[in-house]
Amino acid sequence: MLGLAQGILQALKLPFPTAIDQLEMNTILMNSPEAPTVIVPSTGDDQRNQSAGLRRSLESRLSDRVRRVPPSPIRRFFDLATTMDDVISLGIGEPDYVTPKPVLNAGTNSLLQGDTSYTSNAGTLELREAVAGMLTKLYDAPAYDAGTEVLITVGVSEAMYIAMQALLDPGDEVLVPQPCFVSYTADVILAGGTVVDIPTYAANNFVLTPEQLEEAITPRTKILLIGYPCNPTGAVMNCEELLAIAQVAERHDLIVISDEIYDRLVYDDHEHVMFAALPGMAERTIHLGGMSKDYAMTGWRIGYAAGPAELLGAMRRIHQYLIMSAPTGGQAAALRALTDPAAETAVQEMVASYGERRRFLVDGLNEIGLDCFEPKGAFYAFPSVKRTGMDEFEFAEKLLNEERVAVIPGSGFGAGGEGHVRCAYPVEMPKLEIALERMYRFVRRYGV
Ligand SMILES: Cc1ncc(COP(=O)(O)O)c(C=O)c1O
Repeated sequence: MLGLAQGILQALKLPFPTAIDQLEMNTILMNSPEAPTVIVPSTGDDQRNQSAGLRRSLESRLSDRVRRVPPSPIRRFFDLATTMDDVISLGIGEPDYVTPKPVLNAGTNSLLQGDTSYTSNAGTLELREAVAGMLTKLYDAPAYDAGTEVLITVGVSEAMYIAMQALLDPGDEVLVPQPCFVSYTADVILAGGTVVDIPTYAANNFVLTPEQLEEAITPRTKILLIGYPCNPTGAVMNCEELLAIAQVAERHDLIVISDEIYDRLVYDDHEHVMFAALPGMAERTIHLGGMSKDYAMTGWRIGYAAGPAELLGAMRRIHQYLIMSAPTGGQAAALRALTDPAAETAVQEMVASYGERRRFLVDGLNEIGLDCFEPKGAFYAFPSVKRTGMDEFEFAEKLLNEERVAVIPGSGFGAGGEGHVRCAYPVEMPKLEIALERMYRFVRRYGV
């Protein structure tokens, strides 16, 4: 695999990154959502192409779809950060935990016992049943039929990609409240659809309003894509707010794709509401969820989709050609995660710990003058940097260069993110303390 990466990097004329972190590597190999870069390098090296016997550059042969995917805002900061010592990174949106022990054991044992083959395309029936059962138990979801209405995928990443592939024709519009997880727009573009930005703002808790939604709808609108709790803002939506959105979706007969990958990571008194469980929504909603964040299982690559059989059947058709079946060991681990009470205890412990770190970071950011709205979900804070007089790119770059703290410019996540940076807090508390001290020094230097 490393050889393949090296080959790709060489072909792209990028240095082979011995010191590059895994995330960066994923980016290059798989367009990793956390640092999603579709690499369209401007080599401009026609001579090299000609001496290699090519009459037209390789770059000129890339598809329009790929060219239209915007470059990652994140990449530059990872590139810079990896060349520096003593950087505290608040940049990576991953749990800082290892997968809970019983889950880890279930995955490794299944492999050691010889379960190394494909599973059914849709995933093991036991896991699909466990997903359906969990959604009903936690959120009062409709009783999904594990045979036809649940699909086990390679993370929410795959589920989102195939949902777009299954639904979009050229020109179809997808409403995307922003700032949002960066794969959303890429997936729409790669499926030939058109992204319609709906910016949300801190003043309104980064919540999508029914008025905004109404305004963005056109005769070409096919899908509304929502993701709460939100990456990068940490925003959540309550039942009332979601009901208002549901009414608009019903009135305009929209398909809704709801990415709820952070469903368990909510704080204080917030209770997560599953969109598809709202009245009348199950028949028009593709619910996406996964193991990566809630169970500290990013590397196992297991997610799931649940929804109407017609839509899930279409997604399954793509999945069976693209993927065959999600990783077998990962499915065994996921099954344990959803059924073992010890895994549930571990989730609650992780949530409690993220909750403490959230409180510390959000309070700290507000104290040092970086106004931060109260994020009630996921593991991100999204402070405003406007009081420093800098834009989010200048802020992030100077903070990294001068104080060795890595954060991500908010506008990289879409409209509404201007003037903000994303700070991920799955970082050990002592490091979080140092990061805040450094940020304090930094903002004082710039007059806050
Ligand atoms: C909102 C959101 N959705 C989906 C994903 C993809 O998760 P995975 O493919 O690991 O399930 C991420 C990862 O950062 C995310 O933040």
